[in-house]
Amino acid sequence: MTSESTVFLNGEFLPLADAKISVLDRGFLFADGIYEVIPAYQGQLFRLQQHLDRLNNSLSAIRMSPVMSDQQWIDVLTKLVEPHAQTDQSVYVQVTRGASSHRDHSLPDDPTPTIFAMCQTIVVDNLNTLAKGISAITLDDIRWDWCHIKSIALLGNILLKQQASDQQCTEAILLRDGFATEGSASNLFIVKNGQLITPPKSHYLLPGITRDLILELAIEEGIDCVEREISEQQLYDADEIWLTSSTKEIMPVTELNEQAINNAQPGEIWHKVSSRYRQFKQQFRQNND
Ligand SMILES: Cc1ncc(COP(=O)(O)O)c(C=O)c1O
Repeated sequence: MTSESTVFLNGEFLPLADAKISVLDRGFLFADGIYEVIPAYQGQLFRLQQHLDRLNNSLSAIRMSPVMSDQQWIDVLTKLVEPHAQTDQSVYVQVTRGASSHRDHSLPDDPTPTIFAMCQTIVVDNLNTLAKGISAITLDDIRWDWCHIKSIALLGNILLKQQASDQQCTEAILLRDGFATEGSASNLFIVKNGQLITPPKSHYLLPGITRDLILELAIEEGIDCVEREISEQQLYDADEIWLTSSTKEIMPVTELNEQAINNAQPGEIWHKVSSRYRQFKQQFRQNND
């Protein structure tokens, strides 16, 4: 992005350099806000309705009303990605409770939200690059108990991810009360004896849009899928481990806590589901040509 890049702020499209908000914004003072990240392939927003539904769920969970109708969001986000139809983009959307006249923890009676959106080019790894696999470590989940909200308060996630980076790992798989819940910026799947397992939705993990799509596609492929808690020991005993997100898609974990998973190779089920995911995206691009 450059300072000339067009962003959306409170009803206006303007250059990034001109997008200004108050230092009293509750997003800045308290991280009082929520966000979304939506991929756009050649100008077409992927799984848009699911992302808008999650955005509205996050708003409702922090006691905010919807700030725009779905159609208004579609118009804004489409206009934002339109000039970038030749590339793949990730669209970042953030809504905060806006600025009050003074700093006060109490919720304002009549907030004026701050609504911001921007897009950035993404280069999604091809299957060959992804197939190299990633390494991960397990860490205790130090975050709060409302991880189903896509809150902009990401310090816990950031520090956990940094601990993984400090150990030359790509991701941290988080443990709570002896169960693996999700990654610091991704959802978790394991494969055991041909069965694909992911933790059920709860307050301890973000209901990932990619997670849901993977379940849909895996079921279509005839894979036995189950939403079940994954104990720490089941994680270590897994035949395959994957971490998933909208921008990273399906990352096979080939090393966990310095131990090889599946002889440090992505497994058979990963190959099957990843190929199906690519095919689904390809069809989406073609249908929107
Ligand atoms: C904590 C966390 N869990 C899961 C995900 C995956 O969600 P999605 O598939 O909607 O990108 C993310 C994405 O950023 C995340 O931050």
